[in-house]
Amino acid sequence: MTTSAAGFDLAQTDKLLTTTRSVRKRLDFSRPVSRDVVLECIDIALQAPSGGNSQPWRWLLVDDPGVIKQLGAIYQKAHDPYMAANRKAAEEAGVTDRNAIMDSSTYLSDHMGEVPMMVIPCLLGRVDGSSGTESAGFFGSILPAAWSLMLALRSRGLGSAWTTLHLVYEKEAAEVLGIPDTVTQCALLPIAYYTGDDFKPAKRQPATKVTYINGWKQR
Ligand SMILES: Cc1cc2nc3c(=O)[nH]c(=O)nc-3n(C[C@H](O)[C@H](O)[C@H](O)COP(=O)(O)O)c2cc1C
Repeated sequence: MTTSAAGFDLAQTDKLLTTTRSVRKRLDFSRPVSRDVVLECIDIALQAPSGGNSQPWRWLLVDDPGVIKQLGAIYQKAHDPYMAANRKAAEEAGVTDRNAIMDSSTYLSDHMGEVPMMVIPCLLGRVDGSSGTESAGFFGSILPAAWSLMLALRSRGLGSAWTTLHLVYEKEAAEVLGIPDTVTQCALLPIAYYTGDDFKPAKRQPATKVTYINGWKQR
């Protein structure tokens, strides 16, 4: 075991950080997920930073199968035309390296209404997005916590995927859940135990390719 100077087991820490993937095809829809384990993960997530430590969040945990079915239908209504357009564009451009992600995404859409648990991270308030400072501060006050939640879930054998497509019909989902129009839904995380455990680091560009030093475009 390699322990960092700060006392962390680097192999375990780095494994968690580099292999927490969007889990779609390997979600086990038949295995129940307890509220307790998700609440434990939300407790961990709440240690994340937020602007001025304002903690402007609410976490909507959904495990009623009837409500999940309704949200799944809303998701699919938004996803399927979006994906059809994407597939068409990829075909026309002769792009084939996106097939796996499109298939995975379509699989999740077909089964979104069957997941045992969903969490919708919500922000108290709305922004119009025209001010960079405002929107960075707004969404930046929940994104670190939401990612922490996904990491905590993963370390307990639970898979999730960051999804946003249901927001095409944000109002419909808000009506299903009784969310007031002063609140912003930021994502919809389907949650289930995953099958197998051979998640790998994904292919990404190296840091040196996407990092500038001391000035824009300076390597
Ligand atoms: C802002 C954002 C929105 C996303 N929306 C969706 C979505 O609606 N549906 C979906 O299946 N995946 C969605 N994803 C997941 C990405 O497709 C995924 O993170 C990406 O393909 C990389 O795969 P990985 O997470 O397994 O590394 C979203 C991710 C982010 C960060």
